[in-house]
Amino acid sequence: MKILVSGGAGFIGSHICEKYIKAGHDVCIIDNLSTGKIENIHPEARFFELDINSDQVSELMMQEKFDILCHQAAQVDVRVSVNDPRFDASTNVLGALNLYEAALKSGVKKIIFASSGGTIYGDQDYFPADEQHPLNPCSPYGISKLINEKYLYYYKYIHGIDFVAFRYANVYGPRQNPHGEAGVVAIFIDRMLNEKQSFINGDGKNSRDYVYVEDVANANLLALGENVSGIYNIGTSVEHDVNFIFQTLNELTGGRSPELHAEAKTGEQRRSVISYKKINEQLGWQPKTDFLTGLSKTVDYFKNKLV
Ligand SMILES: NC(=O)c1ccc[n+]([C@@H]2O[C@H](COP(=O)([O-])OP(=O)(O)OC[C@H]3O[C@@H](n4cnc5c(N)ncnc54)[C@H](O)[C@@H]3O)[C@@H](O)[C@H]2O)c1
Repeated sequence: MKILVSGGAGFIGSHICEKYIKAGHDVCIIDNLSTGKIENIHPEARFFELDINSDQVSELMMQEKFDILCHQAAQVDVRVSVNDPRFDASTNVLGALNLYEAALKSGVKKIIFASSGGTIYGDQDYFPADEQHPLNPCSPYGISKLINEKYLYYYKYIHGIDFVAFRYANVYGPRQNPHGEAGVVAIFIDRMLNEKQSFINGDGKNSRDYVYVEDVANANLLALGENVSGIYNIGTSVEHDVNFIFQTLNELTGGRSPELHAEAKTGEQRRSVISYKKINEQLGWQPKTDFLTGLSKTVDYFKNKLV
């Protein structure tokens, strides 16, 4: 199949491209390299340095006639979205619409979208949240993910473009940016290996559902199947708190970091964990990498980058 991956130079997008190329698909990437990196781009993918908001997106899509649009590009920082909701929406809503309109004009058959299970439900009423849980996102970023799902529903029912929206839990693994706001695993590993002090915000008991990036990429491969359509959580149904992550990573990196706490950040959710029962029952997907294995693979990746 001919696939356009937006954000293919990013953390998750680059792993998805790798899976698609290994499975024999023809992959093209658009990315503006705002957080993505040239070295993440698979050598067998064609790359266009483009913003998803640009007019050239439509030209490229009309020329190439992709079968699938896998839309991973986004403004990914929740705090940026809180500080500047219009900037967030300009990429996450208007940029997405630019892509979806081009997909419509150029005859794309299916759109695969990176939604967010960590933000779309808001403070959870029950744990783990399934796809039926009320949707009360508490950040402009989370709202933008919900709006995308609604637009994709519109494009399917009015225009017949199929879609899959994956509500990812907290994704971690090789190539995650350790300098962003998100991604506590990458941030801790980077600081521990470089012997810089890490701080745990507040009491460290905030917990999240951590899913390994290769499992997320596997779901995106499954999504290419003709019978695969709809909204699915991609998580592990297991939660871990920040203290546990700090202690485990400290052991894996040589145990030299004292455990220090900083002031709690305001407005952070206490718990977030999502159920993967639906995709498991319907499509047989399950997370294959347990947390300890995933953490040690991620530590190995960052260690190798140092040498
Ligand atoms: N990492 C997580 O835990 C997580 C959780 C839920 C959802 N998501 C979603 O998964 C997707 C991938 O996130 P990631 O963690 O790999 O982040 P990332 O920052 O590594 O990847 C995003 C990519 O999009 C590109 N990009 C950003 N704005 C662009 C624009 N205007 N035009 C073209 N390219 C642009 C960036 O350069 C980058 O390569 C995003 O949609 C994100 O919202 C991530």
